Amino acid sequence: DWTPDQFIETTVQELRDLIGNDKVVLGLSGGVDSSVAAMLIHQAIGKNLYCIFVDNGLLRQNEFQSVLDSYQHMGLNVKGVDAKANFYSALTGLTDPELKRKAIGRVFIEVFDEEAHQIEDVKWLAQGTIYPDVIESVSVKGPSVTIKSHHNVGGLPDYMKLKVVEPLKALFKDEVRLVGKTLNIDDLILSRHPFPGPGLAIRIIGDITPQKVHILQQVDHIFIQSLRTSGLYNEVWQAGAMLLPVQSVGVMGDERTYENVVALRAVTSVDGMTADWAHLPYEFLANVSNEIINKVKGVNRVVYDISSKPPATIEWE
Ligand code: XMP
Repeated sequence: DWTPDQFIETTVQELRDLIGNDKVVLGLSGGVDSSVAAMLIHQAIGKNLYCIFVDNGLLRQNEFQSVLDSYQHMGLNVKGVDAKANFYSALTGLTDPELKRKAIGRVFIEVFDEEAHQIEDVKWLAQGTIYPDVIESVSVKGPSVTIKSHHNVGGLPDYMKLKVVEPLKALFKDEVRLVGKTLNIDDLILSRHPFPGPGLAIRIIGDITPQKVHILQQVDHIFIQSLRTSGLYNEVWQAGAMLLPVQSVGVMGDERTYENVVALRAVTSVDGMTADWAHLPYEFLANVSNEIINKVKGVNRVVYDISSKPPATIEWE
C-alpha cells in the first residue's frame, strides 16, 4: 500500500542517485505541487536546488511576498523575480484564452531562462507536474480535441538543454498534500486551493490591464478571506472570482451606475477532472456580495456560478 513516508524515502533516494552533485533549477508557483516537489528535492540535494519564484502580476493580492516569506522559512534556496511588467506588456490587447496562455507561457520561459542562465553549470530542470496534468495535456495533442495547453507541462525550450525531473508525476493531488504534510510544509501553502499557472489572466474575461487585475484581486481577496473566516475554505476544492467583460446598470444613492459584473465560482471535487458547484449558504453569499459591492470600486453586481464540470470547466477560459 502507498504511504507518504514510503514514497518520500524511495523518492529521495532515487533523486540522490539520479542527480548526484548536479545543480537543479525549479520554478515555484506558490501552489502545492511545485512547493512539495521543491521540498522533496531539497531533502535529497539541499542547496544544489535553486528555486525561482516569478511575480507575473497575476497572483492573488499580497501573495507574492507572503509566499516568498514562507519559502524562505522552509529553508529553500529561492530567488523572487519581479516580472510584472513583462507579462502585462505581452498580454496587452490579447483576448483569446489560448493566446493569453501562450503569451504567459512564453514570457515565463523567457524570464525563467534568463534566471536559470545565471546559475552556473545547472544540469536539471525540476517540475511539480502531477498525474492529472499529464492526462489533460495529452488530450491537448489529440487529433480533434483541444482542452487547454497547460504551460507547465512540456514547455521547455530545446535551447535550455536541461534534463527534466518530475518527482510527483504519478501522484494525485490528495497524495501530494499528504507528502507535503509529512515533509512539514507550511499549512498556508499545503491547504491552499489549486490556482492556475496563468493566474488571474484567465479569470479576467477578455483583455488584461493592471487596473482589471487590481479590481479582481480585491474581489478575490474578500471572497477567499470570507471562506476562511466562515470555516468554509477547506470545504471547497477551489474558489475564485471572474471579472466579466460586461457592464450593468445599478443605483447608488440617487445616482445611476454602469459598472462591472463579477462572477464567484466555488467547486467541490476530488481531482479537478470533474466538479460540482459548491452549495454555499445563501447568508454567506449575501454577505460576500454586499462586501464586494460596498468596498470594491468599479463593481456593482455579483453573480454566483452554478454550473458543474462537465460540461462547464472550473475556469471560465
Ligand atoms: P478547468 O478549468 O479545465 O480546470 O476545469 C481544471 C483545473 O486546472 C486548473 N487550470 C490550469 N492550471 N494552467 C494551470 O496550471 C492552466 O492553463 C490551467 N487552466 C486551468 C484550474 O484552475 C483547475 O484547478
